[in-house]
Amino acid sequence: MAYSEATVVAGGLIHIPILIGVFGFLQKAIGTKKPLDGGQSNSNSSSQGTSSTVSQSTKKAPARKQGHSNIPVNTYKPKTPFLGKVLENYSLLKQGAIGRVNHITFDLSEGDPQLRYVEGQSIGIIPAGEDAKGKPHKLRLYSIASTRHGDNYQGNTVSLCVRQLQYEKDGRTIDGVCSTYLCDIKPGDKVKITGPVGKEMLLPEDEDANIIMLATGTGIAPMRAYLRRMFEPTEREKNNWNFKGKAWLFMGAPKSANLLYDADFEHYKASFPENLRYTKAISREQTNTKGGRMYIQDRVLEHADEIFTLIENPKTHIYLCGLKGMEPGIDEAMSKAAAAKGINWSELRPQLKKQDRWHVETY
Ligand code: FAD
Ligand code: A2P
Repeated sequence: MAYSEATVVAGGLIHIPILIGVFGFLQKAIGTKKPLDGGQSNSNSSSQGTSSTVSQSTKKAPARKQGHSNIPVNTYKPKTPFLGKVLENYSLLKQGAIGRVNHITFDLSEGDPQLRYVEGQSIGIIPAGEDAKGKPHKLRLYSIASTRHGDNYQGNTVSLCVRQLQYEKDGRTIDGVCSTYLCDIKPGDKVKITGPVGKEMLLPEDEDANIIMLATGTGIAPMRAYLRRMFEPTEREKNNWNFKGKAWLFMGAPKSANLLYDADFEHYKASFPENLRYTKAISREQTNTKGGRMYIQDRVLEHADEIFTLIENPKTHIYLCGLKGMEPGIDEAMSKAAAAKGINWSELRPQLKKQDRWHVETY
């Protein structure tokens, strides 16, 4: 009896390494390993699909890109978020605008370690309160709208550009949980912040790169950070990076009163006319050639030739941020524009992506 028990135990032990091997193989095969960023994956590209409410899920971490290894990621995780104090929260809209869009700045100086980030990253916000099941709310991601130096140039703040989500359902107006929480918070309030996350929307290091930016609504957030880094005098002094290339912003908004940070961009354009172009598509005030709403893809078509001449330069990068719904329209416009130059867009786009020159963050 004792003999046969020992044999069984020994036989079982012998199988453990085999089982571990099989389990490891299965894990690889079905991809259930935790992502490198602890589940705060940046749900950004069309291929990954986007869920704005980010759980501790099993999304694949994006492949590490060259030169991106020293970018801060996940200094603060959802279980131990940083409590950031609200410094300011004000509307970015002018009279007559549609909806509610605010610029919100948080103090990071009390963090240990301090949450540091670079232009093009996002942070997570965990709204106060509980969901319908009595569980804490999940975090939502927001693109960072400030440079690494922050709006006060002290390197200890982070700013966001947030549109309040509102929609009608069964005759009732529903307010988005986190966006309403953010638009309502007051200076002095403390907010749970996670991250930073994201390496998809980083700027290239070349000072003479060309940067084409396609933004709708709050998709302007990372672009505002880029443009401050490129053209704001104090940023230029602080940066060891002096932009010398061509930047071209295409901005989509429903009305002129909804144009975000417009005065700043006009000012940069006047100060750096050789380096910045700024093209607006104001959907409810302008019409496209077919008599429909003017969208940024219509502007892309108008300037197809110049855009593709820029793209021929290997130092040109394209950044797309904002409404997920704009992706097919942009793709169609790029296909048409490319075809006019004898280029096949469906072949070129993956090449640009592979070269880290095509950057998409839509939601
Ligand atoms: P929730 O309460 O979570 O409601 C959203 C849900 O409401 C949807 O999932 C859907 O189920 C439902 N819903 C939405 N619209 C409708 C409709 N019309 N009809 C019926 N149901 C509907 N937002 C910004 O404002 N600024 C940013 O800079 C920004 N950056 C982002 C960056 C990334 C990488 C990602 C992924 C998202 C970003 N977002 C940004 C979006 C943000 O994360 C939130 O998704 C957004 O604020 C809404 O969250 P909420 O909690 O207010 O809405
Ligand atoms: P519209 O709402 O008039 O159809 P905001 O986030 O402030 O509402 O701005 C988003 C802008 O993007 C609006 O001008 C909106 O136009 C526009 N837009 C909406 N759908 C698309 C789309 N599929 N492609 C490009 N732009 C779009």
